[in-house]
Amino acid sequence: MSAQLIRIWPAAAPSEQAVLRDEDLVRDLLVDSSVLRVNFVMSLNGSTTHEGRSGGLSGEADKRYFELLRRVCDVVLVGAGTVRDEGYGPMMVSEESANWRRERGLPGHPVFAIVSWRLDLDPESSIFTEAPVRPIVITIANSPGDARDALSRVADVVVAGGSEVDFTRLRFELEARGLNSILCEGGPQLFGAMLRSGAVDELCLTVSPRLEQGTPFRLVSGLLPEPVRLKLKSALAGEDGILLRYSP
Ligand SMILES: NC(=O)c1ccc[n+]([C@@H]2O[C@H](COP(=O)([O-])OP(=O)(O)OC[C@H]3O[C@@H](n4cnc5c(N)ncnc54)[C@H](OP(=O)(O)O)[C@@H]3O)[C@@H](O)[C@H]2O)c1
Repeated sequence: MSAQLIRIWPAAAPSEQAVLRDEDLVRDLLVDSSVLRVNFVMSLNGSTTHEGRSGGLSGEADKRYFELLRRVCDVVLVGAGTVRDEGYGPMMVSEESANWRRERGLPGHPVFAIVSWRLDLDPESSIFTEAPVRPIVITIANSPGDARDALSRVADVVVAGGSEVDFTRLRFELEARGLNSILCEGGPQLFGAMLRSGAVDELCLTVSPRLEQGTPFRLVSGLLPEPVRLKLKSALAGEDGILLRYSP
């Protein structure tokens, strides 16, 4: 049985089930317009990794929500550092999610889009060779030409900026392909750059009931010119995680 979740903010409507079903959660996540949503899991003391990966922080509640976030998106956007550190494979949702998507006329699986300056990505990786949908690599004009040529054989390589990725351009390029619902799965460096350019519409943050050892790898890498104030849109609670959604 999947992890139980209840709504703690805003207060549940009298008609709402006490324990939320997938369809209740999905309804909240569907948007009419384009959206750039960022999803993270974090320990109580602010660490985003356990032994170098996020998976060790994630409980059943987070896993359930993580899958539903993927279910409703058009494209999963990830920084190349996270792709390498987490050992990402091809971007595939569960069979149940794929069926949900197909019933609504969507491709069975979202597109995988990877952001990289250096293009240190292996074209022979299963990310590309087993991809159900051709992935996209988003890079800058100054990235290495040979790596760009090699990756062009297995992915659409999109240049979105000269020496920095321009997130307005990135979004334009994705939306031009009909990819309006963008789910970013991190990591901290990419998130920091997005926040600095005001590109983020929503932050989904699971707080995992754990205290991690060592120096925490924080949610945001790099300097923010000033603190970013966010507004709580919803809070859900499960036994092994509090799921928060914020907008700027
Ligand atoms: N707790 C969580 O939910 C969560 C989520 C994601 C990641 N993480 C953890 O975070 C760690 C990785 O952190 P990270 O900060 O290195 O991740 P990251 O932001 O995914 O990766 C950094 C790399 O991504 C590319 N990149 C990022 N921003 C870019 C930009 N604006 N323009 C062009 N390329 C850009 C660059 O790739 P190139 O080097 O290829 O140029 C850069 O070196 C891992 O340990 C991972 O497990 C945790």
